[in-house]
Amino acid sequence: MTEYVGAVDQGTTSTRFIIFDHNGDIVGFDQKEHRQIFAKPGWVEHDPMEIWENTKKVIQGALQKTGIAGHKIKAVGVTNQRETVVVWDRKTGRPFHNAVVWQCARTDEICQKLIRDGGQDRFRKTTGLPVATYFSGPKIQWILDNVPEAKKAALAGDAMFGTMDTWTIWNLTGGPNGGAHVTDVTNGSRTLLMDINTLEWSPEILSILNIPASGLPRIRPSSDPNFYGLTTKDGPMAAQVPVCAALGDQQAALFGQTCFEPGEAKNTYGTGCFLLLNTGTRPVASTHGLITTPAYQLGKSSPVYALEGSIANAGALVQWVRDNLGLIKDAREIEALASLVADNGDVYCVPAFSGLFAPYWRSDARGVIAGLTRYANKSHIARAVLEATAYQALDIVDAMNLDSGVALTSLKVDGGMVHNRLLMQFQADLLKVPVIVPRVTETTALGTAYAAGLAVGFWSGTAELKAKWSIQTTFSPAMDEAERTKRCAGWKKAVERTLNWVD
Ligand code: G3P
Repeated sequence: MTEYVGAVDQGTTSTRFIIFDHNGDIVGFDQKEHRQIFAKPGWVEHDPMEIWENTKKVIQGALQKTGIAGHKIKAVGVTNQRETVVVWDRKTGRPFHNAVVWQCARTDEICQKLIRDGGQDRFRKTTGLPVATYFSGPKIQWILDNVPEAKKAALAGDAMFGTMDTWTIWNLTGGPNGGAHVTDVTNGSRTLLMDINTLEWSPEILSILNIPASGLPRIRPSSDPNFYGLTTKDGPMAAQVPVCAALGDQQAALFGQTCFEPGEAKNTYGTGCFLLLNTGTRPVASTHGLITTPAYQLGKSSPVYALEGSIANAGALVQWVRDNLGLIKDAREIEALASLVADNGDVYCVPAFSGLFAPYWRSDARGVIAGLTRYANKSHIARAVLEATAYQALDIVDAMNLDSGVALTSLKVDGGMVHNRLLMQFQADLLKVPVIVPRVTETTALGTAYAAGLAVGFWSGTAELKAKWSIQTTFSPAMDEAERTKRCAGWKKAVERTLNWVD
C-alpha cells in the first residue's frame, strides 16, 4: 500500500501543499499566492484568514489533483515564513489585526527604545539575536499597544499569539474546538522571546516587552513523535492525520539539504536569502553580525544549532523590478534581460527596502541604485539586481568564515532563484567555492516532510535521508581575481551609500 507524507509551506508570498513519497520525490503539489499589504512605507502585512483559506484550498487541491485520499498521508509537517506574527481571539479564531510580516519595519521606535535602554545586543546571550524590527516579540508588543481589543483580550487571557506555524497548526487541528497551540524551537527562537539555551520563553524579556505569557504557544520539538495534534475529519484533509513537525522555512531547507553535520551549510534564495551553517549541539555566539539559532530538535534529543546570515531582499527585489518598475512581466525574464550585457556597467543596486539585515543590522538604511551613467540601460539594472543577491551572500559568508574560524569549501543552494544560471555562476565567482544545486530543489517542504516522516517512523533516521540527497548541477568559480576585487569594492561603496538615510 503506497503511503505519503505532506508538507504545508506557508511562505511570504504564497502557501503550498506538497506531497512526498517514500523516495522523497514530489507526487502532488498545489500553490496559492496571497496579497501583500503595504499600508505605509516600510510596513508589510498579510491577512491571516486569507492565508488559512488558501491553506485549506491547496491541501484539497493537491489531494484532488493526485487522487490521493487524506488517510494515505501518514504525517503532516508545517514550515513557514518565520517571525511573521498573528494575534487572535481564542474563542472565535478571528485575528485582531493583520499578520505583521517579518519584513515590516513598524516596530522601529520600539526597537530603538530597547536599544537605547540596553544596547542592540542586550538579549543576544539569551536569544542569539540582536534587537531588530525583523523579530516577532516587538511586533506582538506593537499590536497590543495599538489594537485596544487585542490588549483587552490579552489581559483577560483570551488572546493567542503565534508565528505562522502556530496559526496554521491551531487551525489544522481544530481551531476554537480544541486546536493545538504550539510552536517548535526554531520558530520560537525567532520571536526574541525564547531562551535558546533552555528552549523556554524568557520571563525577563516577556516582562520588558510587556507580553503576557498566557498568550504564547507551548514550545515543542521540531519533529515530535508525541504529535502536536491531529487534523480534523471535517477539515481539508478529511481525515485524522498526525501533525507532528514544524520548522521555520530556512531551518527546514537546512534539514532538506541533509546538512546534519557541523560545518555543513546551505543558502536558500527565496523572497529573502538565508545562509545557515550547522554548528552542532552547541550554540556558537556570533561576533560578526550573524544570528545564533536552533536548527532543529528531533524528539527529546539535544537541539542542533546553526549560525545564520539573514538577507531581507533577494527574490523580493526581482518582484519589485517587475511590479514597481515594470522592466519585466515575469520574474523569470530577468535572466534574459541581464544576459543582454556582458557586465553590470558599474551599476550596483542595494535593496535596503526596510533597512539592512545581516551582517549590518541597520534599520536606518534605505535602498540605492548607484553608479549610474548615461551608458547604463535596463539590462545593466537587471544585472545589478541579480548581482545584489550574490554580493549580499558574499557579505554573509565573509562574516561566517570569521565567526566559525573555518573557511567554507562549498555551498549547497536551493530556492526559486537557483534556476537562474547567471546568478548561480556569479555566486560561485564571488565566493570562490563551488555552488551546488541538489536534485530536489524544493528543500524547504522536503525538510519538513522528512521531520514529519521521522516522527511517525515513515523513514528510519537521518542516515536514510542523507542517502537520498544527490547533486543536479555544480557551478565552479571562474572569475579573474582582479576583476572580482574591483567589483567587490564597487559593492562596498554602494552599501555605504545606503547607511544613515533615515534621520
Ligand atoms: O525569516 C524570514 C524567512 O523565513 C522568509 O522566507 O522563503 O519567504 O523568503 P522566504
